[in-house]
Amino acid sequence: MNDLKDLLRFDVQHLISIEEQIIKALPAMIDKAHNPQLKQALEQHLRVTEIQRDRLDRVKQHLGQDADYDNGIFAGLFSSGSKNKGMDGLIDDGQKILALDMNPAVKDAAIIGCAQKIEHVEIAAYGTARTYAEHLGMTDVAQLLQQTLLEEHDADDLLTTLAVGGVNQRAEAGTTMNTSTSSGSYR
Ligand SMILES: [Fe+2]
Repeated sequence: MNDLKDLLRFDVQHLISIEEQIIKALPAMIDKAHNPQLKQALEQHLRVTEIQRDRLDRVKQHLGQDADYDNGIFAGLFSSGSKNKGMDGLIDDGQKILALDMNPAVKDAAIIGCAQKIEHVEIAAYGTARTYAEHLGMTDVAQLLQQTLLEEHDADDLLTTLAVGGVNQRAEAGTTMNTSTSSGSYR
């Protein structure tokens, strides 16, 4: 890797891995969600994530290829289904928690916690890549990455709204009844 553009290519490859891991992990989380609004939010985010994955192919096209991309360091790091280890760890931790026997309302709170950790990693990774693209003057790439970054913020905000709008309260009470009238984001 010789320059910032190489580093951006590397990060985009990581983002592709991250999105693909999330696409695989989300159906199980959707399946375990009890709250209908949470289930719907996760289903919607799965559809958005599939679009985000395809958007990264457009980013790759804009970035172009270099000799390292398919043959060198990238091939070694991302060949044969290699995963982003950070995201893999988060997903694995989440699967372990969600496999535990727990009250449905508590499980909904746990799902939101897992999903927000995932979102925060994506927000950090997309923010970094977007800023590299801006610095390189690659406006098209920066706009594509920014579009996804905004979607990740929206997903995170919606999860916060669901958490403070009743899910956490129902988990505290150990009930599936809606006992809350509050809603809103802490951002
Ligand atoms: Fe995403």
